[in-house]
Amino acid sequence: MDSYSRFVDVAQGSVSRDIFVDDAIYAQELEQVFARMWLFVGHESLIPNAGDFFTSRMGEESVILCRDREQRIHVFLNTCRHRGMKVCRYDQGNTPLFTCPYHAWSYSTDGRLVGVPMYDKLYAGTLDRSQWSLIEVARLENYKGAIFATWDPAAPAFKDYMGDALVHLDYVLDSRDGRDGGSEVIGGIQKWVVPSNWKLGAENFLGDSYHSISHRSVDLVGIGPSAAAGVKGRRDDQNPGGQDLWINYPQGHGLHSAMRPPANEYINGFRNNPEVEAYFRDCHEARKARLGERARMVSKTGTLFPNTSYHGQQPRSLFVWHPHGPRSTEIWRFFLVDRDAPAEVKDFMRHFYMRYSGPAGMTEQDDMENWNYATAASHGTIARRFPYNYQQSMQASHADAQVPGAVSLQITEDNARNFYRQWARVMDGRDWSALMPADTVQGSAG
Ligand code: FES
Ligand SMILES: [Fe+2]
Repeated sequence: MDSYSRFVDVAQGSVSRDIFVDDAIYAQELEQVFARMWLFVGHESLIPNAGDFFTSRMGEESVILCRDREQRIHVFLNTCRHRGMKVCRYDQGNTPLFTCPYHAWSYSTDGRLVGVPMYDKLYAGTLDRSQWSLIEVARLENYKGAIFATWDPAAPAFKDYMGDALVHLDYVLDSRDGRDGGSEVIGGIQKWVVPSNWKLGAENFLGDSYHSISHRSVDLVGIGPSAAAGVKGRRDDQNPGGQDLWINYPQGHGLHSAMRPPANEYINGFRNNPEVEAYFRDCHEARKARLGERARMVSKTGTLFPNTSYHGQQPRSLFVWHPHGPRSTEIWRFFLVDRDAPAEVKDFMRHFYMRYSGPAGMTEQDDMENWNYATAASHGTIARRFPYNYQQSMQASHADAQVPGAVSLQITEDNARNFYRQWARVMDGRDWSALMPADTVQGSAG
């Protein structure tokens, strides 16, 4: 059978360059990946009040995340039902209605078509307004403030889709003192375009800890929160003596977390600011008291299939690799802080986030340069004949009695092999029953 698995050789460890550059494969991704999977849309802190909206993306398409008058959260396709004009052309704001700029059909914040100019004269008896609401996602989940959505009514429940990766996402979204949730998005959303396929970034955050040489210059300078050279791993190693873990799951997710040593001692990563230092020290001790043994597990990076990634420690953030063409990605990064942290702490973190991330951030520039040149050097006629190598740590992953998932104690490309195995299945248009682990299939909604 002709299948997308022909591009992905998990057993031998190779992946065709075609999947990173090819127009037809990309078109299929928009159908099979981005119109079906659970995607990250935004955070509830961006829309705290009734009528607040934030325009986001799902795949290539613009969507509106908004809060209606009853405080319910919705995600709508940002297109008028009349001739398709964008009904919302702002990034963020508050409105009682979305009024289309073209012929002024207007929609309430719960999506209903409530205003049609000259309705009685031109449409009475013909147009049933109740049938022409804004197009809404099939399913939406507010998970600890993070809003995810899918266009597929048959998609499994969010928690089944995420599976055991949720524990690691929790660390990103929970307060630093271990309370459930309590994070908020701070500052603006960084958005920028990189000339490479969306999967290169997604793969990097699955746990490509092998590329630290790329960040040699920032490591030498020392741009960590403490801005202190002389600290091991000078972007600040917050887990000395711990056990790094690279874990993947059948749903395609992969991540890099760390198990701190049993004593789980506080590491001072904020030497230059006593107030910030005190805040994180107090949080650390409170988290230990609250979670006990579980407090030893901390999240570093991860990718939730297909295109949501996170940094769990610093710069704490969620980000999305929006497809923007076969060889182009629009990256959005949402920075998180504890909602009730002191203003001084939030501001300190904001400065660090800017120093590290985005097109002007000193660390992220290094990654973008790699993906940019890799793409340019991979889409030529000759280059495309030769696959990429994914043979690193072929036998390292195992089932662990304590930690769910396929776990490796050494750097591995197993997370990437697993990601592309799932990618091929999704691209083949397989049913959800074949895409999810057997024990979660009964959780699927009809
Ligand atoms: S396109 Fe929106 S009212 Fe005509
Ligand atoms: Fe990197």
